[in-house]
Amino acid sequence: MERSQWSSKLGFILAASGSAIGLGNIVFFSANAYKFGAGAFYIPYLLALFVVGIPVLIMELALGSWSGKAFPAALRQIGGRPAEFVGWFGLVSASFIAMYYITILGWVLGMWLGALGGDLWKPSVALPAFGLEEGALPNPVAYFFSMLSSWWNVVFVGLVWAANMVITWRGAKSIEMAVKVFVPLMWVFMLVMIGRGLTLDGGLHGVALLFTPDFSVMTEPAVWHGAFSQIFFTLSLGFGIMTAYASYLPKESDQSASGLMIASLNCGFEFIAGLAVFSLLFAFSMVPKASSISMMFFVLPQGIASFPTGVKLFGVMFFTLLLVAGLSSSVSLVESMTGALGDKLVGRSRAGILAAVCGCGMLGSALFAWPQVIDPALDGDGTVGLTLVDLVDHWAFSYGLLLTGLAECLLVGWVLGPHVLREYLNAYGRVKIGVWFDVLVKYVIPLILTVLIGFGIWGEVRDGLYGTGLAGAGTPWALGALAVWLGTSVGLAGVLTMVGDPPREEVGQ
Ligand code: TRP
Repeated sequence: MERSQWSSKLGFILAASGSAIGLGNIVFFSANAYKFGAGAFYIPYLLALFVVGIPVLIMELALGSWSGKAFPAALRQIGGRPAEFVGWFGLVSASFIAMYYITILGWVLGMWLGALGGDLWKPSVALPAFGLEEGALPNPVAYFFSMLSSWWNVVFVGLVWAANMVITWRGAKSIEMAVKVFVPLMWVFMLVMIGRGLTLDGGLHGVALLFTPDFSVMTEPAVWHGAFSQIFFTLSLGFGIMTAYASYLPKESDQSASGLMIASLNCGFEFIAGLAVFSLLFAFSMVPKASSISMMFFVLPQGIASFPTGVKLFGVMFFTLLLVAGLSSSVSLVESMTGALGDKLVGRSRAGILAAVCGCGMLGSALFAWPQVIDPALDGDGTVGLTLVDLVDHWAFSYGLLLTGLAECLLVGWVLGPHVLREYLNAYGRVKIGVWFDVLVKYVIPLILTVLIGFGIWGEVRDGLYGTGLAGAGTPWALGALAVWLGTSVGLAGVLTMVGDPPREEVGQ
């Protein structure tokens, strides 16, 4: 099977920035900033960006075009089979993220239809399944839960998976076609949203709030953990996604420049998205709850519903923005797994591999969306589906990502030697990278990641798994989700490492 290639540098930059810019930029950033000290959050955020984010991004890009292979095979070139195992472990964890990310996009599709059809803007409906009468909840909330308790939500999730499959059908070629439309569209829509937000009465007050620092939170480990996680998530790092995308470029690419470009585009978008969200929210004196899900589906739509004019127009635009930004991110998760399997299972058809990846993904996503898993007895958000999303995010994202990122840095830092990638980068790059890169990759980043993992584990011990208390009612759920994630990731990664070996490669370059 021919490996696919981007047709141009522009196509690659659009695709990589499309992967980076997603729900993370539009909602998770603002939710985190609000929760973690508003203006003060920029301090750990920028530190995380420069000390860890940009160096790891450049490292993952370099790894891809240097090896010309997807993540597991690229790591194998460095450290043999154990290293390849790390790559698969990361990709299986990334697949869990794809499952819940696409479930959320399915819900976005449902809300988009409601916004377009107008039902979302009507007075609130009754929710018999929850024992709630008409008008008991603001309409976006009632609409969301009535969608979640119907089979439609499984249909929506299936449709978003189908869209992912169509977009990744021909690898880089078809992804490039999609992002050429999606990426410009999301910039335009975001600029329109921020224009609307800032011109609302009180909009500027919201922006001022985003920049008002609350320094008292800086001593909390959770804030630092939040900032580093946000940087990893928003730049699509730690799972070799950027490695996969960069492997479709010629070896002579300037990856230092690409890295700086992708990081600037992503963080620029995140910055203006923060302005838009804060101006929208505070114009209507709404306080975003800590959960980004409720911000995306309840609070922001309520804000839009209170616009003096153009409710439907801006509502449809908001959900279209979430959809295209989310799709250009989710396809990168699907492609990195499909591409890696294609490199490994030489001789298998891409269509077959893609169908298997999307089929498994769809089943997983359906679990999050299954109407039966909505349980009014649960407190908090009231559904097992939402709790499952949170739980899987907690394990697969927080731990899967930190562990894979740590192992990746150790492999490049101590087995390959960071100077190999640095010399490669400098051979083709205009921006020259100094020895600081070696110091970061070898010592600083592994140390930071180890501390973050350590704090995480300490938290599990202190507050019970996933903060459920040592014998809390949620503990079996937390334990179950941990077992499923760890069991599947380790088991599947082991199998994938052992099976269908490609012809022997030369180790090293
Ligand atoms: N970066 C995307 C966002 O901000 C999400 C995403 C896509 C991602 N691919 C990823 C996150 C890989 C972690 C790893 O929404």
